[in-house]
Amino acid sequence: MTTVKIGLAGLGTVGSGTFQILQENSNEISRRLGFDLQVVQIGARRENPNCDTGNTEIAGDIFELVGNKEIDIIVELIGGVDTARDFVLQAINNGKHVVTANKALIAEHGNEIFEAAKSNGVIVAFESSVAGGIPIIKAVREGLSANSINWIAGIINGTGNFILTAMEQEQRDFDSVLSQAQELGYAEADPTFDIDGTDAAHKLAILASLACGVPLNIDAVYKEGINSVTQNDIAFASELGYRIKHLGIFRQHENGLEVRVHPALIPLSSLLANVQGVMNAVMVDGNAVGPTLYYGAGAGAKPTGSAVVADIIDVARAIKAEQTVPMLAFENLSTDKQYLPIDETVTGYYLRIQVQEKTGVLARIATILGDLNISIDAILQKDAHGVQGNVPVVILTKQVEEKKIINAVKSIESLLECKGPVVRLRVEHLDVDGVNL
Ligand code: HSE
Repeated sequence: MTTVKIGLAGLGTVGSGTFQILQENSNEISRRLGFDLQVVQIGARRENPNCDTGNTEIAGDIFELVGNKEIDIIVELIGGVDTARDFVLQAINNGKHVVTANKALIAEHGNEIFEAAKSNGVIVAFESSVAGGIPIIKAVREGLSANSINWIAGIINGTGNFILTAMEQEQRDFDSVLSQAQELGYAEADPTFDIDGTDAAHKLAILASLACGVPLNIDAVYKEGINSVTQNDIAFASELGYRIKHLGIFRQHENGLEVRVHPALIPLSSLLANVQGVMNAVMVDGNAVGPTLYYGAGAGAKPTGSAVVADIIDVARAIKAEQTVPMLAFENLSTDKQYLPIDETVTGYYLRIQVQEKTGVLARIATILGDLNISIDAILQKDAHGVQGNVPVVILTKQVEEKKIINAVKSIESLLECKGPVVRLRVEHLDVDGVNL
């Protein structure tokens, strides 16, 4: 059988990891496929000193690849959105199959891209766009295809998890851990996306769409990042038996869909609380299979490259089988499912309230919560430690609708004894039939 030929656009962290895997594992890959894969052209503005590309032709302009008649599969690893969109659409219109790791591109322009792929009879594969090396797209799209997906909850940003882990375990400051994550190739070119929740929102938009067959809609994802998480909150959470993680959560309710990414307290004993460092983990609860868990490295050259190469292998198999149906695209989408507003979400809450140390303050806070029918689960009050008579009071509430807690926080902040804004974090308890996960 003849070789399937690849054009690789981008030779950064993931591009070099992909190239190296294709070289190092070429015998194993060829054995599995029954034919060879060959990178015939690389599109990159400059060579990568960490990646020996041998005699492979390098074009300074990536658009040369989409015009190269020899190439069967274009692999887009340049990142960013606008140029990547033009590049991928040109590749599709030229009849090339596409593999991409670009979650921003899929989340923001996926509907248009899959439509174009369908019209041109080509495949667009994007396994590496969510949770790095974990084959979560395959799991949701294929392994769990018999199920209606009840919910998905996961740690889906490796950089964010790396930062939160180091802040807790080594008491390191945010900026120094972020620099390390950048050096290790985990962070996005613009790490703002890792920190403000955008990267996780892109990934959750993709998972939500796959899970329940709705068009991609990044605007429907509620987003908060890890930038507001402090050492204090990490320590208080730990004292109360919780760990703060940045979660992506999707849930199907009868009246609509919940899609949100934000930091949350989860019990120390829960599975996700023990996912540390750059690792990601995604739990998927299907109505037939029950809860399932997928764990692995969420970022980095080789783990992400592993998912890119798996897609290349899938597409190469489809090419050889002369399968022209765009098997990896979103199809038969339903537009009748509504996204629920965030203030209808029901979770527990962690409130950190800085108050003047004065008789009766705690009672006044408890009255505000009680009047709104918000039940307190735990309470922690710390010594002033000499901070001008102000003390932090930390309260965990039982499950309550977000609108109610917003009202409660407003009332607490209006107390004369309340000094500064109340810190509010959600508390998630993941369980199925009363069994904590
Ligand atoms: N910056 C991303 C992360 C890379 O840290 O998860 C993988 O998508």
